Amino acid sequence: MSDRNASDREHWGSRMGFILAAAGSAIGLGNIWRFPYLVGKNGGAAFVVIYLIITVFIGLPVMMAEFAIGRAAQRSPVAAFGAIGAHPFWSLIGWMGTLAGGFFTLSFYNVVGGWTIKYMIESLSVLLPLAADGKSGDFFNAFIGNSYQVVFFQVVFMALTTLIVLGGIGKGIERACKVLMPALFAILIILIFRSVTLPGAEVGINFYLKPDLSKLTGETLLDALGQSFFSLSLGLGIMITYGSYIGREERLPSSAVWTASLDTLIALLAGLAIFPAVFAMGLEPGQGAGLSFVTLPAVFAKMPAGMVFSFLFFMLLFFAAITSSMSLMEVATAFGIEKFKWGRAKTVCVMGVVIVLLGVPSALSLAGAPQIAGKAFFDAVEYLCNNVLLPVGSFLACLFVGWMWLPQACSELTNEGKLAFPWMKAWIWCVRVVAPIAIAYIFVTGLKW
Ligand code: PFF
Repeated sequence: MSDRNASDREHWGSRMGFILAAAGSAIGLGNIWRFPYLVGKNGGAAFVVIYLIITVFIGLPVMMAEFAIGRAAQRSPVAAFGAIGAHPFWSLIGWMGTLAGGFFTLSFYNVVGGWTIKYMIESLSVLLPLAADGKSGDFFNAFIGNSYQVVFFQVVFMALTTLIVLGGIGKGIERACKVLMPALFAILIILIFRSVTLPGAEVGINFYLKPDLSKLTGETLLDALGQSFFSLSLGLGIMITYGSYIGREERLPSSAVWTASLDTLIALLAGLAIFPAVFAMGLEPGQGAGLSFVTLPAVFAKMPAGMVFSFLFFMLLFFAAITSSMSLMEVATAFGIEKFKWGRAKTVCVMGVVIVLLGVPSALSLAGAPQIAGKAFFDAVEYLCNNVLLPVGSFLACLFVGWMWLPQACSELTNEGKLAFPWMKAWIWCVRVVAPIAIAYIFVTGLKW
């Protein structure tokens, strides 16, 4: 997906293909791994409510704005703002997104991507017997404490991402997502069924679905905001890039609604698969990054043919992760091709090595060091990206679209006035006023190292 002229630019094969590819980028570790552990950390259902509100009033309008910029510009994020005649200052959004997404986010994303491979393999050997003895937490801690293994699987995950991006991903992603996304959905439904029928599951269902608003703090809001952007792949220019491959006749607003709805649905379902089981097994919901890697094996261990489900689940988690990591890597690649005028193969290989090297301190930090100002390197990079760079990128995108480029954005969203968009007024309010003020407020009040 290198940058080309509008006329010979590759476009998605079909509307469904595009939505599934955008959903493929959006649906990933963020939904199944990160969303549930943030719900656990932030006290349950209150976080879910805030997350939904933020996704509807901030995430969705920002996604429409990014699609509009991308389709109008037909360029990757760094070049997009110049292509639509914006002042060079706004290219900052593209630059920041490229750095934050293509490099920093991917550097810790591929560490967790590596875990999915390890878990796929171990599903077929020791994982479930250990989990059946209540030792899935020990297994997880021993694994992340073993730096060689973590780095090894990180490198394997990144090598696979690199290979796919190397081969070009136009038809590849689209085709893969069409099969894998529905399969992921089916497996989640089966897991939910098992989880909610475990004895003692009601406590978890209440924790997840009955909000206690007294649990809300500024930090909760910022976690929800950062998670919404992370999960929807916003603020990093990914949706600008994907938007640039949408055909002129497509409806941007409804594509955004579909993408955001599918993404949110999968996150909600992941929580429903995890929390009832967490409580039924007497586990701790606030245990952080290990939550789904510790709980789900314990659920699988209680299922007939648990090994098969465990293997399938981690395989699908791996696919969900890799369709997202490809989209992140594409940003770094498109940037390298444009900036250094290298060929695609050279760019992808160089970027792959750089990103792995950037990720090594994150991988090592899970065993205790290095740290940045008291936080493990992994947590520090994750916090910086999700709670700082993504909100700032999205804030700037709202200012640009809402105040500098509104008529063009409206024209883009209605296909030059040919389509009705009944929510236009609400959308304008959201991007001009609601989203920037809310992001700025949440950012300032919630920032806490
Ligand atoms: N949205 C992906 C997930 O939820 O796992 C992660 C991600 C992909 C974030 C692409 C940002 C991005 F630009």
